[in-house]
Amino acid sequence: MRFSRFSKSSDPLGRYYTDSMVGALLVNSMGLACPGTVLDLGAGEGALVGEASKIWKSSRFITVDIDANAGSALLPKLKGSIITHHTTDALDFALAERLGLGQGGVDAAICNPPYLRPRWEKHFAAILEEAGLSHVLPHISEVPSDLLFIAQNFRLLCNGGRLGLILPDGIVSGEKFTSFRKTLINKHRIERVIELPRRIFRNTDAKAHIVVVSKHGKASDQITIQRIEQNGLLSPQLKLPAHFAEKRLDYSYHVQTTSCIKLNQRKIADVALSVSRGSFSSSNRNNVDFPVFHTTDFSLCEDSAPPAFRLSHENNETTTEVVASPGDILVARVGRNLSQKVCMVRSGRVAISDCIWLLRVVPEHREAILAYLRSAKGRNALEAACHGVGAKFITKSALLEITF
Ligand SMILES: C[S@@+](CC[C@H](N)C(=O)[O-])C[C@H]1O[C@@H](n2cnc3c(N)ncnc32)[C@H](O)[C@@H]1O
Repeated sequence: MRFSRFSKSSDPLGRYYTDSMVGALLVNSMGLACPGTVLDLGAGEGALVGEASKIWKSSRFITVDIDANAGSALLPKLKGSIITHHTTDALDFALAERLGLGQGGVDAAICNPPYLRPRWEKHFAAILEEAGLSHVLPHISEVPSDLLFIAQNFRLLCNGGRLGLILPDGIVSGEKFTSFRKTLINKHRIERVIELPRRIFRNTDAKAHIVVVSKHGKASDQITIQRIEQNGLLSPQLKLPAHFAEKRLDYSYHVQTTSCIKLNQRKIADVALSVSRGSFSSSNRNNVDFPVFHTTDFSLCEDSAPPAFRLSHENNETTTEVVASPGDILVARVGRNLSQKVCMVRSGRVAISDCIWLLRVVPEHREAILAYLRSAKGRNALEAACHGVGAKFITKSALLEITF
């Protein structure tokens, strides 16, 4: 993995930009199918919104940067009307009106805020107050810009809306920010935290984390934490009890202590009858006269394989390849959005490509596993089980290890 420059040293606007792989991981970690309106405050060159627009294909994006020369200002020209850009101060108290949004008019937000101590302005206190963050540091005027950006995001997000952040290590693990973390845990819901490796940003030892929060989400008594290992792969998930998470949220610390509970539920392996890989490669898919279900044929809205893929009686009799039967669950084996590609064959028999796993489980658990793998939690579990950050794949053993 290569990451672009990130130094806390000198730029007056904190213009340190995210690598596209971290951007894609952040967006995928949010576990959302396609939010309506997405906000990116401090969009810079547009690394986050660029990745988000590839994954959330029918969302509408609003970007803001104070820097008139920020590359994100060109996005509406490059990407068309799905993106609206504003050159303005993201810390304006009347930001929602300036962007033509009501308070709560945003469904999801992505943000790598500048890590600065801004010159204190009176209205910052009102922003923090409205977002329920005015008490998190002993001296309100010491609140850094990243917390102010988080407060603005909370003001604009709808209840339940998700915020995907890249935050410096201090906020995630520093004692000074204990009260801030407590507020995120108790008043909102931390969905997951992924620690990024040290020295992934050139010229600096700074560490950062992906943090995904749901505004006013139902508090959870456990928080899922992970890290990207130096080899670029995601570590297994750890479940951190909330009271430990207040203390700190960094994986590297907790993995060494006894404060984490490893997932300890039923595994897919416990109820699986078989897992087989489809056998039609892209070339022999084109050489057969019947439809072969492939990763591009999954639908986000449909949990069943489309009837058009049912094999005719004649083809069903003659094919000797791996073929799915009613009740079989199909899971994408490779591809960027594989965690969003799960469905069931409900009738007929379906030929499948070699990019798909055919998962056959005992009948009484079929629907539960399908529902779980298609839920936000299940998508996260698939993400966590994947190897590779850009071009992902999931192995048979990783699929079987998933708990439900
Ligand atoms: C750390 S960079 C992140 C850029 C981009 N989101 C990314 O991840 O690559 C922070 C961005 O915030 C912008 N910024 C700093 N202060 C701002 C403010 N008050 N209002 C809006 N943007 C601001 C900077 O110009 C910079 O582009």
